[in-house]
Amino acid sequence: MNATVPGTQEITIRKCEGMDELNACVALQKEVWKFDDVDLVPLRMFVVSQKIGGQTIGAFDGNELIGFAFSIPGSRAGHAYLHSHMLAVRDSFRNHGLGRRLKLAQREDAIQQGFELLEWTFDPLEIKNAHLNLSRLGAIARRYSVNHYGHSSSPLQGGLPTDRLVAEWWLTSKRVVALLDRKESPKFPIEKRIEVPAQIYAWKASAADRHKAAGIQKHNREQFLSAFSQGLTALGYERDSQDNGAFLLGRWGEDWSYASSE
Ligand SMILES: CC(C)(COP(=O)(O)OP(=O)(O)OC[C@H]1O[C@@H](n2cnc3c(N)ncnc32)[C@H](O)[C@@H]1OP(=O)(O)O)[C@@H](O)C(=O)NCCC(=O)NCCS
Repeated sequence: MNATVPGTQEITIRKCEGMDELNACVALQKEVWKFDDVDLVPLRMFVVSQKIGGQTIGAFDGNELIGFAFSIPGSRAGHAYLHSHMLAVRDSFRNHGLGRRLKLAQREDAIQQGFELLEWTFDPLEIKNAHLNLSRLGAIARRYSVNHYGHSSSPLQGGLPTDRLVAEWWLTSKRVVALLDRKESPKFPIEKRIEVPAQIYAWKASAADRHKAAGIQKHNREQFLSAFSQGLTALGYERDSQDNGAFLLGRWGEDWSYASSE
């Protein structure tokens, strides 16, 4: 944890306004993902998103943008929803709840706009993101996309295929309301665990050990695809004292769904 961040409660979360703030999002995107320019979401896309019902919500330390959440509207089987494409917090401000606060602001705005669903994809090898998405926000995952974006220039990907889980955040589901309003963690019979070792970050970052990360990715991909084909859903996430992670899969009792051909 970074102890040098002063009073993150004083950081303001609000919608970005004007070109300068949107430009700051593009710059922070480059800082966080270290993408080649060709992979960056450009300023124009942030402008378009604002005009078509998307969201660009920023976290501000004074006037300085230190985090943002960006989404665009989507449609599936006749239902409009929001697809959150990026969530970023500057490295030195992480692990103080800002990522969660940005997501909660997305939720509030989405509900006000009449949306039921916010979706995003995340790398199932990222233990931190899985914990935030499933355990802290109450998203679920029951779809797996193999090499979703093709090759990525971001070093965060470590040169591996861009496999992604789809997080579905059913904004007013019983599960989400119980977790956020009443701090009740969902209880369900666990039918399967899919594990991610804490060393995954080091393995991805090292050319010599990358094959170990690739092996876990391949193994877990098969596990997820098989579990999802049997109707299981990732409903929980567990971390142990050594920071190993495990997806907990079971059957979701609620019937929120927009039929999908994916
Ligand atoms: C993902 C990201 C936005 C989260 O922002 P953040 O402000 O650090 O998030 P929060 O502080 O709200 O929550 C982080 C949680 O992960 C936990 N965490 C931190 N390191 C962890 C690790 N190695 N393993 C597991 N959990 C970890 C924190 O303890 C916290 O959980 P808690 O609230 O239960 O204590 C930020 O890490 C980031 O910008 N990452 C790079 C870009 C990215 O991956 N974006 C998301 C995909 S688009």
